[in-house]
Amino acid sequence: ARLVVLVSGSGTNLQALMDAAADDAYGARIVAVGADRDDIEGLARARRAGLPTFVVKLADHPARSAWDQALRAAIAAHEPDLVVSAGFMKILGPEVLGAFPVVNTHPALLPSFPGAHAVPDALAYGVRVTGCTVHLVDAGVDTGPVIAQEAVPVLDGDDEDALHERIKTVERRLLVEIVGRMAREGWTVAGRHVRLGERDHLSQSQSP
Ligand code: GRF
Repeated sequence: ARLVVLVSGSGTNLQALMDAAADDAYGARIVAVGADRDDIEGLARARRAGLPTFVVKLADHPARSAWDQALRAAIAAHEPDLVVSAGFMKILGPEVLGAFPVVNTHPALLPSFPGAHAVPDALAYGVRVTGCTVHLVDAGVDTGPVIAQEAVPVLDGDDEDALHERIKTVERRLLVEIVGRMAREGWTVAGRHVRLGERDHLSQSQSP
C-alpha cells in the first residue's frame, strides 16, 4: 500500500513509520511526505531518506478552500492508498477528505481533550490516565471514528514534555501497528465503528 504522511513538526511518528516500512513484510511504503510549513525536522527526516516531499502553506493561498484544493492535488500526485496525519497541525478540508482515507494520531483518549493542546489540557484537568488515539479523520476536529486507543498513566511531577514523551512512545507503536494492519488487511467502516481485516478498503488487489 502507498502511504502519504503529513507532518508539521519533529516527525518522530513519521520516523517510526519509515523504520517499519523498511521491512517489505510491513505491507506499506511511504511514497511522499507533506507539510504545511518549511524547515521542520519532519521534512528533514524525509529528505535524508530520499523521500519526495511537498509543502503547501496556508499563507500562500487566498482562502482555506484554495489551500485544501492545493493540498489535495499535492497528495494526489503520489496516488496514495492511505494518508497518515502524524502530528499535522491543520484541519483537513472536504477536498482532501473526499479524495483519500485519512488516519490521524492524537495524544489523548478521544473524545477527551480534542484539539491542538491535548497534553497540557489533560495535565491541567488533573486526569490520572490519558493516552493516545488512532482514528479516521472526518470533517470535525479529532471527531472521526476511533480505530485504536491505548492508555498512558499521568505521573506525579509530570510536566507537558514528560507526559507527551511518555504518550509518544506508545503512540508511535500504536500508529505503526494500525497503519500496517490497514495496509495488509484492509478495513471497513460501519457508522462509528471501524473493523480491520475487512476488505472494503485497500484490498490486496489494489496497488502493490
Ligand atoms: C504527536 O503526539 C501527535 O499526536 C501530535 O503532535 C505530536 C507530533 O509528534 N499531534 P511528531 O511530529 O510525530 O514527533
